[in-house]
Amino acid sequence: FSSSSALAAREVKSLGVIGAGQMGLGIALVAAQKANVPVTLVDTSQASIDKGLKFAEKLLAKDVTKERITQSQSDQIRSLLTPTTKMEDLSNVDFVIEAIPELPSLKMQIFSSLAQICPAHTILATNTSSISITKIAASTTKDPTDTSASSRVVSTHFMNPVPIQKGVEIITGLQTSQETVDTAVAFCKAMGKIPSQSADSPGFLANRILMPYINEAIICLETGVGERDDIDAIMKNGTNVPMGPLQLADFIGIDTCLAIMKVLYEETGDSKYRPSVLLRKMVDAGWLGKKSGKGFYDY
Ligand code: NAI
Repeated sequence: FSSSSALAAREVKSLGVIGAGQMGLGIALVAAQKANVPVTLVDTSQASIDKGLKFAEKLLAKDVTKERITQSQSDQIRSLLTPTTKMEDLSNVDFVIEAIPELPSLKMQIFSSLAQICPAHTILATNTSSISITKIAASTTKDPTDTSASSRVVSTHFMNPVPIQKGVEIITGLQTSQETVDTAVAFCKAMGKIPSQSADSPGFLANRILMPYINEAIICLETGVGERDDIDAIMKNGTNVPMGPLQLADFIGIDTCLAIMKVLYEETGDSKYRPSVLLRKMVDAGWLGKKSGKGFYDY
């Protein structure tokens, strides 16, 4: 990103995060910790909020134990997180990041509400893994020629786990303005992340490259080209990645891998993205990886 484009970035003094799950909680915590902004954390489930904040407190306590931050810094970061179950509490934030489940109709409903609730300058970002940013942006208005809200929609696609992974994909829809992109890039940098930009295309960049790699590893397993441990070992020891593709699939979630492969296959119509038969069967069996206790490995 050129430094001249960063001149158009708006200052972000407050953040709203929708969804206090795995990704939303991580995003809220890193924003408070690195960008030092107050974060309003919205979730419809009080149980998710309680679980998320407990996890945030655990991560902060670990940082104190490891002497990465002091106790008073930890208290200060924690005090920046304000949980709520009301979307209306986002009526005064400069930047919103949505991290609710990957359901198109739910996301569209949220963006339509955000366009009403938030001030006219607020950047409306989504953490979607696969849904078109252009479609999400279009849901902000009934009049497609009025881009006052849709031009502020962008994707900030964080990687899991958010406190650890530096990369974030900035994805633009057809309507996204340059000021929106510049503000998103600058804010992600303030969060200590390294942004890369991509167009609104199925799988964007990270999953477009990663998922066919994982799918191919599964095809190698099902067609007997290699055993599980050999497949993971050669990629781990041969390309210096922390884990092989089959173990990585277990960590991401086998169902998530299948969902993303389906998007790539259906939206491009290209047979090179066809999900492997074994990948489908694993999902049918309920072997979803680490979260379900069984995937390519047992947990
Ligand atoms: P999650 O299931 O852990 O969290 C979703 C949260 O949203 C839950 O706490 C739920 O109570 C809340 N929620 C549901 N409906 C809501 C509503 N209407 N308003 C407010 N809160 C609501 O999901 P996760 O894994 O954090 O994923 C969130 C998004 O991030 C998805 O779009 C996913 O595709 C994307 N993503 C996920 C990654 C992953 O590795 N899990 C990586 C990158 C992106």
